[in-house]
Amino acid sequence: MKVAIVGGGGREHAIAHSISKSPLCKKLYCIPGNAGSLSIAENIPISAEDINGIVEFCKEETIDYVVIGPENPLAEGIVDELNKAGIKAFGPTKKAARIEASKSFTKNFLKKYNIPTAEYEVFEDFNKAKEYVVKKGAPIVVKADGLAAGKGVTVAKSTEEAIKALEEIFINKRFGDAGKRVVVEEFLEGEEASFLIFSDGDNIVPMIAAQDHKPVFDNDEGPNTGGMGAYAPAPIINDTLKERIINEIMLKAINGLKNEGAPYKGVLYAGLMIKDNNPYVLEFNCRFGDPETQAILPLLESDLLEVMLASTEGTLNSINLKWKDSYAVCVVISSGGYPLKYEKNIPIEGLTEVQNLDDIIIFHAGTKMQNGKILTSGGRVLNVVAIDKEFKKAQQKAYEAIKLIHFDKMHYRKDIGNKAYKYL
Ligand code: AMP
Ligand code: GLY
Repeated sequence: MKVAIVGGGGREHAIAHSISKSPLCKKLYCIPGNAGSLSIAENIPISAEDINGIVEFCKEETIDYVVIGPENPLAEGIVDELNKAGIKAFGPTKKAARIEASKSFTKNFLKKYNIPTAEYEVFEDFNKAKEYVVKKGAPIVVKADGLAAGKGVTVAKSTEEAIKALEEIFINKRFGDAGKRVVVEEFLEGEEASFLIFSDGDNIVPMIAAQDHKPVFDNDEGPNTGGMGAYAPAPIINDTLKERIINEIMLKAINGLKNEGAPYKGVLYAGLMIKDNNPYVLEFNCRFGDPETQAILPLLESDLLEVMLASTEGTLNSINLKWKDSYAVCVVISSGGYPLKYEKNIPIEGLTEVQNLDDIIIFHAGTKMQNGKILTSGGRVLNVVAIDKEFKKAQQKAYEAIKLIHFDKMHYRKDIGNKAYKYL
């Protein structure tokens, strides 16, 4: 079949890498893709946000199946539009994607279905939100309701900081309509983990757990990013916790969404806080995580395309995922200055040497090919993924491989995976 992947980041390169190995895939397109996807797919220069453009392209090229990477087109209803045009797609409908697109919807949903999460209130008014912050005191968390590219959340250490965040959202309208509503919630202290499942609306198939590293600098310092590295499986999620997450969170969410008239198909990603060995939902995402996917998918031995098709067709109960008995560590290399200001169009050296190493995969993110040279084109540039049966060796191999790569002002965290050791 002809398959198209929407998106151009590291997550989409990782998805493309897995799908390209499926015997079911005869031709692969990435919309728009990056310099990495060029060697396994045809890149189509249409923006991932241009839903009409994508639907038209897929009709013209008679694409059989479209896999959506990022949240924005999902929240805007790309799956509904593709389906209307008679094209099958992997991912939730607009209605089901509210689980990521509206934090107030999700918090109310979690409460209704008795799924553990931080205590909260929803506000549409600055003064009422401020009063609540003063009453509750710090630390406290302020979240813009809508999609804000990972920048809408402030974990405030003081009431002043929380009030400033409220001012930014309500008065300065930093996030536009995404900040019409605000969730203010209790601060949960613990360690985070990412738990992703495939769902077909009724049945679920869990993936191995992963752990992201959101702050830009070592020891979780500096501003939050989309994610500076990940590893899988994350040993913080032991078998007991895994069973509890499936029964107390994921199944309840999938059944709840069905009950709300929004059956959920695709990948459901729970961002969890593990506090005193109990899992709490911090957020749901309506798609694969980035960079978690770059650590999870290289360990999947089953045919990814077959699993995705089963999610779309409602036959996930026939799927049993097989995983490599290994660990994957993914270190993100970013442009210096990211997530704030950074330069683009910087030549990247050393990629060919790294590609020849065993147990190393490079997934591109913000890269482009120009006159035969690979240049930086975004904040997160490359993902270096290393695989080994021993966690420590996977981590070492990733950092050894990075030494061979160079571009001006490149940055990466030196401590990706360190949190795993206390559970190994
Ligand atoms: P979210 O987009 O809701 O996952 O929030 C982004 C990040 O903010 C999370 O990955 C956590 O690091 C942090 N965070 C969100 N909510 C809370 C909370 N209730 N308590 C502590 N940290 C939080
Ligand atoms: N790594 C966090 C996310 O994908 O939202």
